[in-house]
Amino acid sequence: MWHGEWDVRWLDEVSSTNDYLREQARQGAPEGLVVVADHQTAGRGRLERRWESPPGSNLLASVLLRPACPAEDLHLCAAAVALAGADACREVAGVEPQLKWPNDLLVGEAKVAGVLAEAEFDGDRPVAVVVGIGLNVAWPGPAGAGGTCLDDLRGDAPPVDRRALLDRLLEALARRRDLLDDAGGRRTLAGEMRRRCVTLGQEVRVVLAREEITGVATEVDDAGRLVVETASGPRRLTAGDVVHLRRWTP
Ligand code: BTN
Repeated sequence: MWHGEWDVRWLDEVSSTNDYLREQARQGAPEGLVVVADHQTAGRGRLERRWESPPGSNLLASVLLRPACPAEDLHLCAAAVALAGADACREVAGVEPQLKWPNDLLVGEAKVAGVLAEAEFDGDRPVAVVVGIGLNVAWPGPAGAGGTCLDDLRGDAPPVDRRALLDRLLEALARRRDLLDDAGGRRTLAGEMRRRCVTLGQEVRVVLAREEITGVATEVDDAGRLVVETASGPRRLTAGDVVHLRRWTP
């Protein structure tokens, strides 16, 4: 259990909670600073996509971490936040999302949350990681984008309180935070990811920086990498945009 303190700043409006916190990180802010916004004017998703959300509707939060974690394992910071987000959904809303690799939260095939992790480096050495999560509480995302939100999933049950959700997410993240500091802990996190990963067993298309591959997702390895069996052999991925094509049956 991490015994640091979360220092939560809840803002009415900001460009992007990730951008705000990266600037704070560059100025030397300590681990544990958390920024939440009712509204973002320039919210960002992965691959420089926009992340939109009407004021006051969803949980838009970023967390500053400074783990002793090598650059090649930094993606596990995002996994830790995604897993904590899934715990919070279960504990506060009674909704149990699964992970679409690397760190989307899905209910069925509908996305309820996305995670964006960005690192700050001193030369080659990572000195801070900002992990942002956009968790759909009252607004499912743009029409036609395949999203859902906790309030819709709960039907007639009372609306979900964003502060309660954030509190549980931070508690769940504190339980995992120390795992990031050593190789054994990171293996534990990867194992948790594997157990909750709905991508396994799917035929997938993965968009990478310079290419696109298709194959069957067969494993999340001990480093949290996705193994995709392609026609030209296995590929081990630390990042990528995954599309689930169909469940694979041999
Ligand atoms: C994705 O699925 O593409 C990741 C979405 C991440 C969105 C969150 S909202 C809070 C934080 N601030 C941002 O600008 N982005 C992340």
